[in-house]
Amino acid sequence: MQQVKAVVAKAKGAPVELVTINVPDPGPGEAVVKIQACGVCHTDLHYREGGINDEFPFLLGHEAAGVVEAVGADVTSVAPGDFVILNWRAVCGQCRACKRGDLQYCFATHNATQKMTLEDGTELSPALGIGAFAEKTLVAAGQCTKVDPEARPAAVGLLGCGVMAGLGAAINTGGASRGKSVAVIGCGGVGVAAIAGAALAGSSPIIAVDIDAQKLEAARGMGATHTVDSSQLDPVEEIKRICAETYDGADGADIVVEAVGRPETWKQAFYARDLAGTVVLVGVPTPDMKVPDLPLIDVFGRGGALKSSWYGDCLPDRDFPMLVDLYRQGRLDLDAFVTEEIGIDDVEAAFEKMHHGGVLRSVVVL
Ligand code: APR
Ligand code: ZN
Ligand code: ZN
Repeated sequence: MQQVKAVVAKAKGAPVELVTINVPDPGPGEAVVKIQACGVCHTDLHYREGGINDEFPFLLGHEAAGVVEAVGADVTSVAPGDFVILNWRAVCGQCRACKRGDLQYCFATHNATQKMTLEDGTELSPALGIGAFAEKTLVAAGQCTKVDPEARPAAVGLLGCGVMAGLGAAINTGGASRGKSVAVIGCGGVGVAAIAGAALAGSSPIIAVDIDAQKLEAARGMGATHTVDSSQLDPVEEIKRICAETYDGADGADIVVEAVGRPETWKQAFYARDLAGTVVLVGVPTPDMKVPDLPLIDVFGRGGALKSSWYGDCLPDRDFPMLVDLYRQGRLDLDAFVTEEIGIDDVEAAFEKMHHGGVLRSVVVL
């Protein structure tokens, strides 16, 4: 066991605290990772606000990169000294989803068996089974994906959650490819990652929609060919118009990614897609939200697919090393997602900045 500094949310709505925690030595199937960088994600804030569950105290942080310090006796997939990105989809290989080949839906993903605790022994709930606003954390070995050690931790750590969610929403869930148009509604960290994914896949046009001009500017930098300020213009009409300019007879986009998580923007996505197009919901709605007044005949009549995307339908061991290599080759600008590097005691300030825009990601660097 060792003691390290970590960011903990002790009670619903209360500011997070930097405290000392106990990290057990890794047992069978586990690894201790020395964290180098961890992005601040909306989900961390949701945990703090009690929006996920009531299992306080939470050890926050879950988009991280670091170096494996120690592994359990039986662990062979990673070794001390390996540079890894932490993931929250360590697939089991045994459940029904895994057995039928849908590994991205695995419903028995691995986390560490032992518990990290506060100094008084109170067990911590690590955010998404990770807990990486900490000098060191204990995870399942399968949560460690080995990648090119030359990569910048603050940039590639973001693949551990939000950036992967967006990239995967466009590529894995939406099936973005050459010859297809993509529109993305909501251009925060997740939305611009979807735009970057569409650009990587060779899609065109790539239409960015947001109500914030600053976000649209960032979207252009990530590969958007067109931008629509939906506080000024009807996004459905604009997406249809832009797609028809490129493809004769197009009546919307082939793939529309909703990266806000609201009924009205999902409805925009629904009507902005072409016949037989795909809608991908990657924004996370709250339980009270409903889609009102959607004629069932429109669902039937437009064909295609209405999908949701959890963690970008990623398989970490397949996707992280490839995306890090593309980053190292200059084909995927992960640095552009890092708005600021902050200290481990600045997480609360980073939560505050989320409400003001202008920040794609604040990244804690240790
Ligand atoms: N129409 C278009 N864009 C909107 C609208 C709207 N009505 N309302 C908000 N937006 C834009 C915001 O201006 C912002 O650019 O959506 C973007 C949301 O970005 P962030 O708040 O940075 O959130 P992000 O981290 O990108 O996550 C987006 O995905 O993973 C989920 O929980 C996450 O639901 C959230 C979504
Ligand atoms: Zn499984
Ligand atoms: Zn996250």
